[in-house]
Amino acid sequence: MKNIKAIIFDAYGTLFDVNSAAEKCKYKIGDKWEGFANFWRTTQLEYTWLRSLMKRHKDFWQVTEDSLDKSMKTFKIDPSMKDELLNLYKVLSTFKEVPETLKTLKEKNFKLAILSNGTPSLLNELVKSNNLEDLFDDLFSIEEVGIYKPDSKVYDLPIKKYKIEKNEVAFLSANTWDVSGGGNYGYNAIWVNRNKNIFDNLDYKTKSEIKNLSELISII
Ligand code: LAC
Repeated sequence: MKNIKAIIFDAYGTLFDVNSAAEKCKYKIGDKWEGFANFWRTTQLEYTWLRSLMKRHKDFWQVTEDSLDKSMKTFKIDPSMKDELLNLYKVLSTFKEVPETLKTLKEKNFKLAILSNGTPSLLNELVKSNNLEDLFDDLFSIEEVGIYKPDSKVYDLPIKKYKIEKNEVAFLSANTWDVSGGGNYGYNAIWVNRNKNIFDNLDYKTKSEIKNLSELISII
């Protein structure tokens, strides 16, 4: 991959482990914690797409809470756990290779940024709680355009700010639909496939597939 000027990362599921909030409560939730975590995530994403289509935007924190309410009812989770789960969602852990990989890329002088559905304050808190605040040039939030990924206005944000071409961006996401969204937009979209998942049929074949972010160092 040549002429890459900026490396742009999706946040939730790519840098930060969305299941880590429910996992930290697994002794209270029991064996169903993982099914519950996956249902919460799927419902949260569905709400982003549906709200974009209905033109009824609410920010990602509201969507996260609304989807949690439905998921807790569906999985019969004690309602008293709601605040604990939401507070843990604000300080999700990174996947383990993330800090070292970001430091190495920063030393190579790439522009590094996050491009996410998260609100500016959520993204700031996530980055700060994981001590990553010195590594990013920008935390781009969809709140700037008021519509969720994969709308092209979202993928436009770094292009406009950095005044670079779409193909000068390496875009990393673990979410297959986000790889397709960024790839169809014109980014070099790279799929971080940690769990041997199947890719989508959405008109984009990923440029590269890596098992974790550290593999990025050798292809960039
Ligand atoms: C994000 C979601 C898609 O961070 O994971 O934008």
